[in-house]
Amino acid sequence: MKQTSQVGIIGAGPAGLLLAHMLHLEGIASVVLEQRSRADIEATIKAGVLEHPTAELLKQLGVGERMQREGYLHRGIELSFGGKRHRLDLEDLTDGKAITVYPQHEVIKDLVAAVLANGTRIEFGVDAVRLAALESDQPVIHYQRDGAAQELYCDFIAGCDGFHGPSRQAIPQALRQEHAKVYPSGWFGILCEAPPSSDELIYAQSDRGFVLVSTRSPTVQRLYFQCDPQDSVDNWSDDRIWAEFQQRLANQDGWQLKKGPIFQKGIIAMRSFICETMQYGRLFLAGDSAHIVPPTGAKGLNLAAGDVVLLSRALHSHYRRNQQDALDAYSATAIQRVWRGEHFSWWMTNMLHDFEGEDSITRRFRRSQLDYVVKSRPGAQSLAENYVGLPFDAWIN
Ligand code: FAD
Ligand code: DHB
Repeated sequence: MKQTSQVGIIGAGPAGLLLAHMLHLEGIASVVLEQRSRADIEATIKAGVLEHPTAELLKQLGVGERMQREGYLHRGIELSFGGKRHRLDLEDLTDGKAITVYPQHEVIKDLVAAVLANGTRIEFGVDAVRLAALESDQPVIHYQRDGAAQELYCDFIAGCDGFHGPSRQAIPQALRQEHAKVYPSGWFGILCEAPPSSDELIYAQSDRGFVLVSTRSPTVQRLYFQCDPQDSVDNWSDDRIWAEFQQRLANQDGWQLKKGPIFQKGIIAMRSFICETMQYGRLFLAGDSAHIVPPTGAKGLNLAAGDVVLLSRALHSHYRRNQQDALDAYSATAIQRVWRGEHFSWWMTNMLHDFEGEDSITRRFRRSQLDYVVKSRPGAQSLAENYVGLPFDAWIN
């Protein structure tokens, strides 16, 4: 069946849903195509931290009400190393900014509800998505729904289909400028039923590797430890997991991790990846389809939000003012904020993780960097400014 829309969006992750909602508010029609079911995308456990600009954006767009009610504002974080914990007062270091702990799947639920309520169609469970005619005035997305072939003709395609989706691959390889780095470690993440061990997130460096103590609610906690990316969750009994956390978090101030039944375990890979070519003809990439960060520093979803702000503004200029400049500049503009987030995530990862086979000088540099961040106000400010999130506008020339 042949259908049309102004913008065809592939992927109902944070990038695709946010874009659909913003375009609707600007009077631009879109259709979202998602390969998974609504129940599946609303239950996938991923990110937990929203930067200040992302949280403000959700409020401005009228989708922040539940986040404000059920999310948690964190005004500081702790860095733990050498057996001691050190608090960074984010609010003080950034003129009043903070982060919001609110799970990504809750953001997804809020956005799906808003997008459907404003009459935008999301087609769940689509298959065999293929992009064509990207260099023409009317690109097309071919796909299947319930076994029947479909075609969505549009003015523009937004490739918001994550790292493994087809959009980036639709750009000819010879034109793609890609940069990639795979880290020799992964993160072992758990969800458990327990009270919070700390009022704020703890990023801990130890000789046995990194730990992150995060939270989801007064009764559910999210914790991660650095692991071998090839390891299997089957090798880790609950007792072994808690013993590992306790060894890595051993400290001199008597602080204790609160334990509880573990109900979810998973291993995630760590990579830095940037496709500098975020546009090809009438295809525009946003979010993980164009770039991936290692999770340290919580930048992935927030970088996706930055891309979408620029893309929706550029589409607004095209449709409302008949101006192409912002669309033409999209890739070059968006990539600047992406590089900043990529560098910060790499920097945080290197400062907090121990990698096998490192020399002693690298380990001492790491310790010196940590000392500098907690002892120098400019050092702390630099981390805090990046962590709470640089303004979306800072990168528009
Ligand atoms: P995705 O969320 O990957 O969405 C892409 C969508 O496209 C998916 O729904 C997928 O099903 C769909 N899709 C893919 N292929 C197709 C196809 N062929 N056809 C149709 N649809 C398709 N980021 C943060 O900012 N803060 C954090 O605290 C944080 N913590 C994290 C913790 C973990 C454990 C992990 C794994 C990630 C974390 N991230 C964090 C990163 C963040 O989750 C991602 O950057 C974010 O999901 C990117 O959003 P996206 O919309 O670009 O892509
Ligand atoms: C979480 C994930 C992160 O990558 C991070 O830096 C902080 C928190 C989380 O899932 O809670």
